[in-house]
Amino acid sequence: MNEIQLHDKHFEVYIPSIDILEKVAALAVSIEKDYQGKNILFLSILNGAFMFSSDLMKAMHSNVEISFIKVSSYHGTNTSGRVDELIGLNTPIKGRDIIILEDIVDTGITIDKVMTLLKAFQANSIAVCSLLYKPSAFQGKEKPNYIGFEIPNDFVVGYGLDYDQLGRNLSSIYQLKK
Ligand code: IMP
Ligand code: MG
Repeated sequence: MNEIQLHDKHFEVYIPSIDILEKVAALAVSIEKDYQGKNILFLSILNGAFMFSSDLMKAMHSNVEISFIKVSSYHGTNTSGRVDELIGLNTPIKGRDIIILEDIVDTGITIDKVMTLLKAFQANSIAVCSLLYKPSAFQGKEKPNYIGFEIPNDFVVGYGLDYDQLGRNLSSIYQLKK
């Protein structure tokens, strides 16, 4: 399946599944090297990071825990501004070594929100591991600590990432057909 169609758009393979799994294994090795003797808690950001998180968990040999969170925005009742909240955080964070797992860091807005919201929970450390990173779109504060692939500012799908909810099941990453 080198080419696929999702809704109205055509996509072609960009990062084959085998290259993704090799990179995920390498990320696990560098994380384990940096966190020797520590008890890591992964915080996986749904929905996009589910597949990456699953493969990264399988590639880890040391003890590691995982919890899944979502970020949502709503209009607060007292202000006209939007309020962000973390949903699903059911594991104590205080004193823990946290690694946030993202499928992709694009503008960096999502990861900045998560970092801001997590600050209140007094973790011992917080790092970010993103499979994909678009440096030319990034406007956030700090680039992720662990990055699988730096990619151009093009739209990609597959391996958890969707185009209007389709494509998450693909084991390779696809880009819009040129
Ligand atoms: P942000 O711009 O860094 O806040 O990225 C927010 C979210 O947009 C990511 O977690 C993805 O779910 C989604 N996203 C960004 N770029 C892409 C893309 O190329 N394909 C699919 N989803 C994307
Ligand atoms: Mg995402």
